Amino acid sequence: MQKLILDLDTGVDDALAISYALGSPEVDLIGITGTYGNVLLDQGVRNALAITDLMGHPEVKVYKGLPHSSTADSFEVLPVSAFIHGENGIGDAVIPDSNREPESEPAVDFIIDAVKTYGKDLTYVPTGPMTNIAAALKKAPEIKDEIGKIVLMGGALTVCGNVNAWEEANISQDPDAANELFRSGAPVTMVGLDVTLQTLLTYKETARWRNLGTQAGTFLADMTDFYIKAYETTSPHLGGCGLHDPLAVGVAVDPTLVTCLPINMQVETEGPTRGRTIGDNTRLNDPHKTMQVAIGVDVPRFLDEFMTRITRLAEQ
Ligand code: BDR
Ligand code: CA
Repeated sequence: MQKLILDLDTGVDDALAISYALGSPEVDLIGITGTYGNVLLDQGVRNALAITDLMGHPEVKVYKGLPHSSTADSFEVLPVSAFIHGENGIGDAVIPDSNREPESEPAVDFIIDAVKTYGKDLTYVPTGPMTNIAAALKKAPEIKDEIGKIVLMGGALTVCGNVNAWEEANISQDPDAANELFRSGAPVTMVGLDVTLQTLLTYKETARWRNLGTQAGTFLADMTDFYIKAYETTSPHLGGCGLHDPLAVGVAVDPTLVTCLPINMQVETEGPTRGRTIGDNTRLNDPHKTMQVAIGVDVPRFLDEFMTRITRLAEQ
């Protein structure tokens, strides 16, 4: 089984990513590491504990990561995040709090230990700011050669950003950390807005979860309907909500879901376009390719996998 770590700022699509991983028989989710972004670190950790409980997997351990980027002293949730993900990050859906606590080991140490234990069998999937993995690479640079693969949700190469014309939200929260990861030489696949805005979910699919009549199904439907409603306001042309974070899990499990461009990538860390993935075109033809960027996705096959796995999990 594939050993997987999810690094989450547990908002709505992060919660769907947890469900996708738990519903995938090929995956052994060995831990969730918390980050900040859609919500504050502590709220995201609480959400991850509560969701793993609700989905019938209280054995999944949750670790606290760093509360803000290395260039800031603190972090505040953007008003737009509360509009898209709800005040509590999970579409203001109400689920029982977990009576578990996060592990005492810091997330950064857990990531390093997991690489040492599982090596090439380990896949790490960050779907929030890349702060934790950048700190792990700083503390133990050798893990870049030891880890199996890193499949991140973030960035935009062929399309505009979602924070502004050039910045995607996860990269925007900590461009320096993302750039350190991109330049580290670790085996990285970027699953950005290029593909995640093609994989859309609608009320038709959430109704299937609601009709299951289970607590998990009702939660998934309530939470995701909130998210779809926000997308109707912010991006009415799309006709659904983007399955950003679940697609990164999908690609981690089955890389054939996407077609990739090998490229020498970088994040702009200076100037007016700070946070942009690939700041200029001089690297496009660079023979030294540093990572894979997903630029095409088999939408019907992914949506089928997504619905099958999550519905199977939620019907129990
Ligand atoms: C990313 O930003 C967050 O709001 C989502 O959870 C996703 O990880 C999309 O840009
Ligand atoms: Ca996220």
